[in-house]
Amino acid sequence: MTTAHLTVDRAFTVAEVPHRLFGSFVEHMGRCVYTGIHEPGHPQADSRGFRQDVMQLVRELGPTVVRYPGGNFVSGYRWEDGVGPVEDRPVRIDGAWHTVETNAFGLHEFVDWAREADVEIMEAINLGTRGVEEARALVEYANHPQGTYWSDLRRKNGAATGTTQDPFDIKLWCLGNELDGPWQIGHKTADEYGRLAQESAKAMKLVDPDIELVAVGSSNRQMPTFGSWEHTVLSHTYEEVDYISMHAYYQEHDGDAASFLAEAVDMDAFIDGVVATIDAVKAAGKHSKQVDISFDEWNVWYQTGLDTEDQPHQVAKGWQKHPRLIEDAYNVTDAVVVGTLLHSLLRHGDRVKIANQAQLVNVIAPIRSEEDGPAWRQSIFWPFARIAAKARGQIMRLAVDSEQVPTQKFGDVDAVDATVTWDEDAGKLVLFVANRGLEEAADVDLNLNGLQATAISSAEVLAVPEGGDRLTANLVDSQDAVGLKPLTDVGLQDGRLHMTLPAMSWGVVELDVAAA
Ligand code: AHR
Repeated sequence: MTTAHLTVDRAFTVAEVPHRLFGSFVEHMGRCVYTGIHEPGHPQADSRGFRQDVMQLVRELGPTVVRYPGGNFVSGYRWEDGVGPVEDRPVRIDGAWHTVETNAFGLHEFVDWAREADVEIMEAINLGTRGVEEARALVEYANHPQGTYWSDLRRKNGAATGTTQDPFDIKLWCLGNELDGPWQIGHKTADEYGRLAQESAKAMKLVDPDIELVAVGSSNRQMPTFGSWEHTVLSHTYEEVDYISMHAYYQEHDGDAASFLAEAVDMDAFIDGVVATIDAVKAAGKHSKQVDISFDEWNVWYQTGLDTEDQPHQVAKGWQKHPRLIEDAYNVTDAVVVGTLLHSLLRHGDRVKIANQAQLVNVIAPIRSEEDGPAWRQSIFWPFARIAAKARGQIMRLAVDSEQVPTQKFGDVDAVDATVTWDEDAGKLVLFVANRGLEEAADVDLNLNGLQATAISSAEVLAVPEGGDRLTANLVDSQDAVGLKPLTDVGLQDGRLHMTLPAMSWGVVELDVAAA
């Protein structure tokens, strides 16, 4: 049994929980849109083709903001192809994923879907093959009330397709996607991108001064240009943008589960590095405004080691409409890692203000669906859903005194990883906690300074299920194999919380608290 002592103090808080930290991502990629959120003719689809079984799971998952329409896809996309009468929309090649895009689903459909799902839209523009003119036209199309060319076209298209005609009122915009990456259509140097982003941002804000803008940061921490890319891009755009993006995907390599379970250590360091770069540009440029972080793609993704039919190199052998593409089946280990990645994002809630798990349905996603078939929750659904539902109020600074576990990649790391939020108005304090130990259970206690825990209102844990192992996953014929169960080994003593977490598990404990 390993042990960990956790301490919070009501005087030490990090920030208010950012509402947009629990974002997701819908890309025109694989089966995320088509046969994911949209499948006319499915028994559960409504008159607009929105799958209501998926919609119900999206509401249960609880994303607050959804990025759209890509991703690599957006860098070759003409948004005009996806508006107007569906029968008039062109069928195009999607070069990013080597598939055929029918454009049967476009911006109006997404706005209607997002309104029904009660999520904010985060719209990405194409700065790969396009530029300033198309960017400002899209903002006018989306947000201008009426009486101009693009806003009247929106109203006309809405009327023609039975979708919304009203201004979409999109506040949050991404200035392109992963343009530091050689794989990106329209890949650019940092100077080329920085100038284009600056001029696009100015033109977009001249159409709608209330929008918020995200500049493209590095595609991952291993990019050779990481650091200098952010520095150069922000040197051009600091006054025009509000956020810089981060992207990171993690996977288990060669059975090294210990290092994989500790990847939040990498995420912590990645965020700290980007914060340092933002602040260096701020200081050197004598800026007073604060640029923050939009971590707008993150997740577990098995990018190497698989040769299944849904891998991009296999899909690229033909030209298909919405083929299966990277439909990773997530197991218990992946769910624990996703829990800890969310802890990392919360720990940095003073600077990470937006985060989007990539993606929402089928494509490396917490929700799976089959064409003409069922929809279900993957293992990683659970930590996201609980944290999105229960992290409210202030993020607390947490002192962690944990026994260590050895890892090849990071050396010794804390066996127990956690974060705490405190909602003073509701009188609730919530501990989100993972045991990264592969073999041993963990004895965890939480000491509250300045607060008195009066009751445990709920306690749940996700762990290896009976009869399963750490690779057990929720599949089409075993949709509920992995999930949250009541945590029974938990109690309060003298206002202090004690619990035992099974090996390799993720848990959530909600307390009623009062001022001590
Ligand atoms: O989410 C899948 C892909 O990962 C996105 O299209 C791209 O931005 C990233 O490389």
